[in-house]
Amino acid sequence: MYRMIQLESLIPETLPGVSLFINHGGNHVLYKNQTHSFTQTDKERLIDNNVKFLFVKAVDMSTYNQYVESNLAALMNDENLEPLAKQNMLYQASVNYVQEIFDSPAVSIKQNVDRCRNLIQNILNDVMSSDGVMPALSSLVDHNAYTYVHSVQVATYSISLHVKAFDLSRDELMDVGIGSLFHDYGKLYIPRVLLEKPGKLSAAEFTEVKKHPVYGYSTLKDLDIFTPVALGIVKHHHEKENGNGYPDGLSSYDIARSSKITAITDVFSALTTNRSYRQALSKESAMEIMYGEMDGSFDMQYLNTFRDSLN
Ligand SMILES: [Fe+2]
Ligand SMILES: [Fe+2]
Repeated sequence: MYRMIQLESLIPETLPGVSLFINHGGNHVLYKNQTHSFTQTDKERLIDNNVKFLFVKAVDMSTYNQYVESNLAALMNDENLEPLAKQNMLYQASVNYVQEIFDSPAVSIKQNVDRCRNLIQNILNDVMSSDGVMPALSSLVDHNAYTYVHSVQVATYSISLHVKAFDLSRDELMDVGIGSLFHDYGKLYIPRVLLEKPGKLSAAEFTEVKKHPVYGYSTLKDLDIFTPVALGIVKHHHEKENGNGYPDGLSSYDIARSSKITAITDVFSALTTNRSYRQALSKESAMEIMYGEMDGSFDMQYLNTFRDSLN
């Protein structure tokens, strides 16, 4: 199995060891072996030949995704790239992350895989081509690439869980997609040093970080493109069933279902991703924590549905 990647997203001489393929009359032909470096001349030659996409093997996608994650901010700031190219790249990167979630045996969603994946990619495409969304998303990437990758994961899981738990229209799923994609948007206003700090935050630092739902909510509200459902997710994804969450300390019946669901997928994404201070946990260990020491935080019905939807 091969996955399509965008030529523009490759910075010459920086690509990690993955083999690259080109499409030749419908077949995937080896273009460059993993031991050979990808040079500026290679890139120019491909552009001259009107090649826009290359292919990598599906097994190499996580290496490629890590590469994109660490270079995305640089690409977004590259003055030689057209805005449209940046938009495509960001979309492509998101599609890759969605793909990775569905491909990975460690953390995957089992039912209606193809339908769900296509739906999510379509929704992300629509979300991202809405007015004003792309610049907002690019600034988030620029501020903290991890937050962006995490956001795509949360959007993917949240849409999937909504599909599984309810019978929703496409517009309703769009709201969930946009709200969960932007749930951490307020982190743009939290200093990078805090977001990237290895180890535990001090009490004062944590107080600062906890302001992100309100920062995100007030900024996005002013953009006038988000619905109340989407804005609710941004503001209330850290509320807990037992009332111990923030910013409003809401409990159970006062929390909207889309916020309850995003609270679950948010924690799951964070626990199952590699961070500078901690290795990614397996989905079993993540679930153990969510059912165990985080008991009381989540809506049990949705948590059970989520657990059942994972392979
Ligand atoms: Fe958050
Ligand atoms: Fe989050």
